[in-house]
Order: sequence, then structure tokens, then C-alpha cells
Amino acid sequence: MEKTTIGIIGGGRIGRMHAGTIYTGMQDVTIKYVSDIYPQAAQQWGPMYGVQNVVSDAEIVFNDPEVQAVLICTSTDTHADYIIRSAECGKDIYCEKPIDLSVEKIERALAAVEKAGVRLQIGFNRRFDRNFRRAYEAIQAGEIGKPLMIRITNRDATPPPEAYIKVSGGMLLDMSIHDFDLCRYFAGSEAESVYCTGACNLVPYIGANGDVDTAVTVINFKNGCTAVVDNRRQTGYGMECRVEIMGTEGNLVTGNEVENTLTICEDNGLKQDGLACDFFARFKNSLPVILGTFFDSIRNNTPTVTTGRDGLETMRIGFAATSCSAARTPCANTCTPSRAAA
Ligand SMILES: NC(=O)c1ccc[n+]([C@@H]2O[C@H](COP(=O)([O-])OP(=O)(O)OC[C@H]3O[C@@H](n4cnc5c(N)ncnc54)[C@H](O)[C@@H]3O)[C@@H](O)[C@H]2O)c1
Repeated sequence: MEKTTIGIIGGGRIGRMHAGTIYTGMQDVTIKYVSDIYPQAAQQWGPMYGVQNVVSDAEIVFNDPEVQAVLICTSTDTHADYIIRSAECGKDIYCEKPIDLSVEKIERALAAVEKAGVRLQIGFNRRFDRNFRRAYEAIQAGEIGKPLMIRITNRDATPPPEAYIKVSGGMLLDMSIHDFDLCRYFAGSEAESVYCTGACNLVPYIGANGDVDTAVTVINFKNGCTAVVDNRRQTGYGMECRVEIMGTEGNLVTGNEVENTLTICEDNGLKQDGLACDFFARFKNSLPVILGTFFDSIRNNTPTVTTGRDGLETMRIGFAATSCSAARTPCANTCTPSRAAA
């Protein structure tokens, strides 16, 4: 069996999740390195996931000819620089969402990828969630006709720590971006205009950093479909993430994931266990699938399935939503028109 040798840049929450997913399910991938500027945590968990080396200098990974691909799992504000460096060194790239925090930096990173002729996949893993994949397949098969309206609810159980908030780019670019990507995916079109209103209602350190923890975004797509996305950083009772899509011929709904389907009938009514406790639990089913598509694209010499263009177009929605929310005006903030036709 031909093995793919990789390095993971960034050994925090998602870097560790990816290492675990690969170690437990992908015998044909070798994690030669995890690189992190603060390597202590990865030094602890790395050996449990078959990581051969934990280093603090990413150049060691880039300069190793045996490394075919890198997973960029560092803080968002570092992604574009690492994409450019990976491309210069001829490595295929899986980069976590969002792609970076400025259009100019994203465009420079995508140009470097194109020039080097390497692969780039963006970590929009929610497309590969079993429920959302089925919803997409239903749309493709014409089961609900043409999508007219998409409603996505995405609310985290607990907020990330303040250090994460500071480098995240804000909730709309960091968290809602998953939903904006799903909207494009389901609508099969690019955004024409975006309206967003947000506030900090729940978590004081989020507001202190100029960010919102509650927001509603409305996206009008070029093909006439409208999407409504509501987000919240903290429910306190588990993760809510569900989708409803109204089409010309029907309607589809996917609900929240629960820990189990147990229901206890008591004198006081029905009792159930909770919602999936966080997004890692909720979407762990999607990680082997999206990572598998990346490694398949390397082995089979095929294009990646979530591309740099997906990353850029989705960020355009995120930037428009962010500035609209900050302006707190009732007028629509028009997205920069996409280069691609609807
Ligand atoms: N697809 C998803 O569902 C998903 C889930 C969580 C996070 N993410 C994304 O993954 C990225 C990381 O998120 P996280 O939750 O793992 O954050 P985290 O803070 O837990 O981990 C980030 C790691 O990167 C390291 N780091 C920071 N700057 C670095 C640099 N210049 N060079 C090397 N290492 C550096 C930090 O020391 C830390 O260990 C973010 O972009 C986030 O948006 C995606």
C-alpha cells in the first residue's frame, strides 16, 4: 500500500482532531511531523497518535522532501503565509477554514498555489456531515425542485477562549463561515447581496474584543435563492445545528444531532439526554470523509473537492456580513460580485 507522508502545522484543537482521525482510520497516511510554535501540548498527545516528530519550526516540515502534503491547522491569521510557503515547497495543502482574514492575502495565497501547481483543499467539513450530504444529494436528484429558501441554525454550546477570539477574525468569519459555505453549496449559486445584524448579548469578553456572539445574516443569491443564517456562540445546553430548505417541489429538514435516542417516560413527562455537546462531537462524522477526499485527490491525481475558490467566495460573504453588522444600518451591503457566473 502506497503511503502518503504529511506534516500537520498547528497542534491545537483541530490539529489534534485530524491527527486522531488519521491515526485511527487511515493506515495509508503517515504523520511525520506536527509543528507548533508552542509544541508542549503536541509533545504530550503526539505519541498517542503515531506522530513521529513534534517540532517548533515549520521550516523543518517544508524542507523535508518526504513530506507530500501539509494540513494547516494554525490560528486563522497565519493561514495565508503558510499556504504560500507550502506552495513554494511543492506540498499539497489542506487548510482549515477560514482561508485568511483579508481578500488581498487570500488572493496572493491562491496565486501562489496556482503558480506552484499544488492542490489546495479548504476544511469546509460540514458539507461532508451525513445529514447535510443527504440534503445536497436530495437537491441534486431534484427531490425538492429548485431551492428557493435555505434556513440554517448554527449555535455553539460554549464559546472559544478569549485568546482564540482575538485571532479568529470574529464570529461571522470564524463560525458563520461554515454556514455561508453550506448556503452556496445548497443554493448552487454565488451571493449577490448580504444583510447582517449582530450583537454581543452573552459573553462579555467577546464584546470587549469588538465581536458579536449573536447574529442573523440574510444572503440573496444570483439564482434567486434566499438564505437566512442564525448564529450564536453560546447556548449553554449543547450544540444546535439544523437546516431547512424550501424548494419549488417540496421541503427538506435535517434536525439537531442528539447524544442518543433514549426517551424516558415519567410522571412529569418525557425526559431525553442532551444535544451533541460541541461541534467536535456534532461533526466528527464528517472529518474522516473530508480528509479522505483530500488524500484520495493526491493518490488519484484529481482536483480537490472544496477549493480555494470556495474559500474566497465564502469569505466575500463573511466580509460583507461583518461590515454590515458593524455598521448597524438597515441597508443591504452588496458583496463584491463573484468572478464566476451563477
Ligand atoms: N473545520 C472545523 O470545524 C474547525 C474547527 C475548529 C477550528 N477550525 C479552524 O482551525 C484553526 C485552528 O483552530 P483551533 O481551534 O485548533 O485553535 P487552537 O488555538 O486550539 O490551535 C491553534 C494552534 O496553532 C498554533 N499556532 C499559532 N500560530 C502559529 C504559527 N505561526 N506557527 C505554528 N503554530 C502556530 C498554536 O500554538 C495552537 O496550538 C482556525 O483557523 C479555526 O478556524 C476549524
